[in-house]
Amino acid sequence: MTHLSVKIGTLDLRNPVMTASGTFGFGVEMASIIDLNRLGAVVVKSTSREMRLGNPTPRITETPSGLLNAIGLQNGGIDNYISEKAPFLRHFNVPIIVNLVGYSVDDYVYLAQRITAAGAADALEINISCPNVKHGCDFSVDPLLTFELIDALRKATPLPLITKLSPNVTSILPIARAAIEAGTDGLALINTLLGTAIDARKRRFKLANVTGGLSGPAIKPVALRMVWQAHQAFPDIPIVGMGGITNGIDAVEFLLAGATAVAVGTATFVNPAASLGVLDGLEAYMDEYGIDDVRELIGAVKAIDD
Ligand SMILES: Cc1cc2nc3c(=O)[nH]c(=O)nc-3n(C[C@H](O)[C@H](O)[C@H](O)COP(=O)(O)O)c2cc1C
Repeated sequence: MTHLSVKIGTLDLRNPVMTASGTFGFGVEMASIIDLNRLGAVVVKSTSREMRLGNPTPRITETPSGLLNAIGLQNGGIDNYISEKAPFLRHFNVPIIVNLVGYSVDDYVYLAQRITAAGAADALEINISCPNVKHGCDFSVDPLLTFELIDALRKATPLPLITKLSPNVTSILPIARAAIEAGTDGLALINTLLGTAIDARKRRFKLANVTGGLSGPAIKPVALRMVWQAHQAFPDIPIVGMGGITNGIDAVEFLLAGATAVAVGTATFVNPAASLGVLDGLEAYMDEYGIDDVRELIGAVKAIDD
């Protein structure tokens, strides 16, 4: 029997494939299209203290092998999540990971305490970067701010914490170290890469916000490199790898680089069932190569001359 289950802190996942925040809504629309019970976990859209309408449109544009988005963290706010979205998701037999976003440490602590008290999540993913928001959070570029935030959250909730890092830094290692020293149970990487797109014919930016976050296959090499670097530096910390995963082989590459689990984002816009396709592809790879336990793949990549 193939062993697919993995652990992030105290969170047990039946398999390593989850959804990437912001690309699966709150699962409500997706539940009529795919079987949520097959996923390792559902990771929901970033949730903030108040409702957010997001940025003006256009806020999404296609790029070669990718997507630029400047949604601006649109969501219904914590009250709506707890009263409507969480009860819906709890009808399914799948762990819920709530992605939190705030402007201050107090915001994040408030959100974590509300969700913990309501039993509205099995783990928290902490979005410490929001590149597409004016006056957004800058925790992700400063190890001290990252430490302060994760330390406060560690004291505020017993739920497993997964700190989601931004690739928009010179090195992610000092930020990762700060999150680990503050008590994070895992790391998620990567969030989107800051970019822009210009329409030469109109001589205008393509996004109302000017800049947006790049995702999709275009960023996979960067994401793989960062997952590998983080795993080399912190081999005991579980990593949720993401960035351009569209099929099972992509997922295997992330596991080999050192990820314990993977998340599927932009691919879901092309095929709403992409996450389940990734899971099927991972299982097919394991069958083909006689891998009994998915954990054998974690960090198992070798040098070309090894
Ligand atoms: C339209 C869109 C919205 C996103 N919204 C969020 C969000 O609310 N919070 C977050 O942490 N990441 C958000 N992300 C980033 C993804 O979760 C993921 O980190 C990134 O897109 C890389 O994975 P991918 O290439 O598979 O999409 C968003 C990405 C996209 C494309």
